[in-house]
Amino acid sequence: MTTFKALFAEKKETDVALVYRTAALDDLSEGDTLVKVAYSGINYKDALASVKNGGVIRSYPMIPGIDFSGTVIATDSSQLAKGTAVLATGYGLGVTHTGGFSELARVPAEWLIPLPENLSLKNSMILGTAGLTAALAINKLEQNGLKETKDAAILVTGATGGVGSLALTLLQSLGYTHITALSRKKDTADTYLQSLGASAVITPEDIVPDKVGPLGKQQFDFVIDTVGGDTVAHLLPVIRYGGSIALCGNAAGIAFQTTVLPFILRGVNLLGIDSVNISRALRIAMWQRLAACVTPEALAHISRQEVGLAEAEPVIDSLLAGTHTGRTLIRMD
Ligand SMILES: NC(=O)c1ccc[n+]([C@@H]2O[C@H](COP(=O)([O-])OP(=O)(O)OC[C@H]3O[C@@H](n4cnc5c(N)ncnc54)[C@H](OP(=O)(O)O)[C@@H]3O)[C@@H](O)[C@H]2O)c1
Repeated sequence: MTTFKALFAEKKETDVALVYRTAALDDLSEGDTLVKVAYSGINYKDALASVKNGGVIRSYPMIPGIDFSGTVIATDSSQLAKGTAVLATGYGLGVTHTGGFSELARVPAEWLIPLPENLSLKNSMILGTAGLTAALAINKLEQNGLKETKDAAILVTGATGGVGSLALTLLQSLGYTHITALSRKKDTADTYLQSLGASAVITPEDIVPDKVGPLGKQQFDFVIDTVGGDTVAHLLPVIRYGGSIALCGNAAGIAFQTTVLPFILRGVNLLGIDSVNISRALRIAMWQRLAACVTPEALAHISRQEVGLAEAEPVIDSLLAGTHTGRTLIRMD
């Protein structure tokens, strides 16, 4: 019988615990393709999936891991050959379908994207769901005017996080020059954020107005927000006429209060970003773009660490506490 190691989120009497243990193929969700996992990113959503009331997993036990890269070792699909290097993100991975925190993953072949040329198994997961989400946000902003000028004033929030760091990297790689990073870690991460392409670094306090009102001084043309909550409420009144904000995340909460004035007086666009259920065609286009635009040299600036399957827990704690920087990958040995 094939056995391998995996990390399970298991429901205990009063809590959810991560349990590192031996698994069998019967523990994996159904799919026509078996992948030997090389790397899986630890994302904010994985952190939420690993705790009680995180709102991600409904049925336990579950193997978390919303993304992975690896090599096909068996498949019934005519679309993929054994030995193909692949990556997967989203769909039900790590939520309703056993995910990447496992030495083996079994998924439908159509979930798998053959690794684009120039992208290693490791770099594909340094990018991972975070890089895909950053690419989708930039793509949507470009469809709403960003493409027209390389010196538009762009703000990226939650800038030391996975999506934030990779949004800065991709924006810089695409030639955008006027990028502000918003980070609670400005004191310690200033140099890091500048190395990713930020020309200025500000703190959340810098965008809190002296006097709260529905409209403020116009400061940014385009915003990529990974934080949600009150940050969005503070940003909407300072987006310039015709500008756009792409909402990706909820690290600071899911609710915010605003008025219609930024929308009806300044024509501001509020753009939603989802990376989970996008079409396969858009996924492939975004991965081709990431592979073409973000060189290994640019990616080398991303703060990263690798841990073993049994060592994920402290990383999850730091993601939930908002103290994590960049990307941490689980490396399967
Ligand atoms: N829409 C999608 O498909 C999609 C895909 C991927 C991720 N997401 C979401 O996007 C967000 C970022 O994901 P990620 O993987 O990049 O997470 P991450 O690495 O944890 O980054 C989040 C960043 O937000 C800031 N932050 C954290 N807690 C905060 C708080 N309480 N108040 C204000 N700022 C806070 C921190 O940056 P600073 O310390 O630098 O401020 C942190 O590094 C998450 O909410 C995630 O669920 C959505």
